[in-house]
Amino acid sequence: MAPRKIIIDTDPGQDDAFAILLALGSPSELEVVGLTAVAGNVPLSRTARNAQMVLELAGRGDIPVYPGCERPMVRPLFTAEYVHGDSGLDGCELLEPSRPLADRHAVDFIIDTVMAAEPGEITLCPLGPLTNIAMAMVKCPAIVPRIREVVLMGGGFFEGGNTTPAAEFNIFVDPHAAHVVFTSGVKLTMVPIDCTYKAVMTPAWLKRLRAVGTHTAIQAAGMAEFYQEYGNQKFGTDEYPLHDPCVIGYLLRPDLFKGRECHVAIEITSPTTMGMTVVDWWNVTKKPTNCLVLRELDNPPFYELLLERLSRLP
Ligand code: BDR
Ligand code: CA
Repeated sequence: MAPRKIIIDTDPGQDDAFAILLALGSPSELEVVGLTAVAGNVPLSRTARNAQMVLELAGRGDIPVYPGCERPMVRPLFTAEYVHGDSGLDGCELLEPSRPLADRHAVDFIIDTVMAAEPGEITLCPLGPLTNIAMAMVKCPAIVPRIREVVLMGGGFFEGGNTTPAAEFNIFVDPHAAHVVFTSGVKLTMVPIDCTYKAVMTPAWLKRLRAVGTHTAIQAAGMAEFYQEYGNQKFGTDEYPLHDPCVIGYLLRPDLFKGRECHVAIEITSPTTMGMTVVDWWNVTKKPTNCLVLRELDNPPFYELLLERLSRLP
């Protein structure tokens, strides 16, 4: 079977980097047709460059990176250097990009790619705020029925939020964009923190990653160690989850995940719960479902997969 074509929309971010590397290490299942960068963990100038640098790390500088939106649709940009460091990818020495950024806006690249492909051919994998995806849907609504699926990292319900008591970072940063995507009618799968908190990375796994000994593995381990520090302080444990690779993990091994079709609404008015993903897990509203919400993840095989695929990179 031909590999599934994906566009990764990203704001690297150490965990975004792991997601990108997992996809690049899986060429028989996934073809990364391009990366689109969005402002999120750090401003766009850095997320775009970080995306390029992750590709260079894996020897895939040939994959284009399209710079996208510099700020959320309505609200001012809120960034997370407190998690990811000033660069967004603290903890590793990345190679300088050998090629310039692509000379097209991310929103136009998404639209052109989806419209040029067969209906149902392109899967979008957003790993940051949904600004680029929503803007593409607003600019060209005809893309919506042509997208195979949007599989996104974002939201949280049973776990509450990780940025405010009610909201997860990606949805909190651009709740209006999330509202556009969740009400678009697109086939949607959401990987919230309820699921990604089960993707905890252990010190023993990190040791195995470092022991792989390739340049990519050593740099990835450095990133993970930096990122892990934040988690250690926050949760008081030595285990911290890698959120974003769960999206790619789901595409590769859906059998490792469990969830339920639900109606999900995004809070966009309340200052207290702005960006909350209101998941109707028990179908109390009887509203039509709009999203597959993943909640469970089988951690050990997921981390075996991640290690095996990262080990394939140079
Ligand atoms: C999400 O927020 C970012 O900090 C991570 O990269 C991930 O996409 C987790 O809430
Ligand atoms: Ca991210």
